[in-house]
Amino acid sequence: MAKYIAVAGKGGVGKTTFTALLLRQMVQQKRGISILAVDADPNANLDEALGLKVTGTISELLEQSKDPKAIPNGMPKNIFIEYKLQQALVETKDIDLLVMGGPQGAGCYCYPNDILRKHIENIGENYDFVAVDSEAGLEHISRRTIPHIDVMFVISDSSARGIRSAGRVHDLIRGLKSAVGKLYLIVTKTNEGSLESLNEEIEHTGLTVLGDIPLDPLVAEYDLAGKPLFELPDDAVSVKAVASILNRAGIFN
Ligand SMILES: Nc1ncnc2c1ncn2[C@@H]1O[C@H](COP(=O)(O)OP(=O)(O)O)[C@@H](O)[C@H]1O
Ligand SMILES: [Mg+2]
Repeated sequence: MAKYIAVAGKGGVGKTTFTALLLRQMVQQKRGISILAVDADPNANLDEALGLKVTGTISELLEQSKDPKAIPNGMPKNIFIEYKLQQALVETKDIDLLVMGGPQGAGCYCYPNDILRKHIENIGENYDFVAVDSEAGLEHISRRTIPHIDVMFVISDSSARGIRSAGRVHDLIRGLKSAVGKLYLIVTKTNEGSLESLNEEIEHTGLTVLGDIPLDPLVAEYDLAGKPLFELPDDAVSVKAVASILNRAGIFN
């Protein structure tokens, strides 16, 4: 069975950066593993961080299946939807990527939700790991498009406001019907002493800090230049921090 990893937190805290570096590290440490990356953030940019080219999001492709004229004569609609979903998959040697895309219409994910859930579950079974770069509201997790979660990382930046918001994400997770295995807090963009200063706020969240990712000028530089974070050098402080987080998270156990 595939192991599901989810990365959650409010916008701008460093979810996509962490997801990309975690995937980079997983592929480097365990040659030959297969990973499906799912970008569930409507503001999708995991593709850029991984250096992959996406042809279409699931939202866009499903939107096309609403037009009866788009469906070939005699093809059942569910088969057509399956085919469209398959088209959204970007395949590479180590990591494949699915991009969910934004909600359609008035803030609603108007997918045929049960078809999407079945599809993600079926496709997920072809991989050792499924890693989800989640959206702030955990929409796909609460609607169970993502079937279950073995390890969840809640990301916060180095601010009291960020930590409080991670606490609210923790509340949301507690309210979910689907079980979450291990749950960790990761604090990003830290400086010397950040964790000590935030200690009291962190305690209020009820989350365990697994590690922090220092503010890394190389991350900013790569983002500015539009270079994939996946290509950051091994000795970048952010890369080393994520390597040590991966070791402590017990993902390969
Ligand atoms: N460790 C870090 N060091 C420096 N900048 C970072 C770090 N992590 C994230 N950032 C910057 O913070 C911004 C938001 O990061 P991103 O990963 O896109 O957040 P999210 O996916 O949560 O919206 C980006 O401009 C990114 O370059
Ligand atoms: Mg993001």
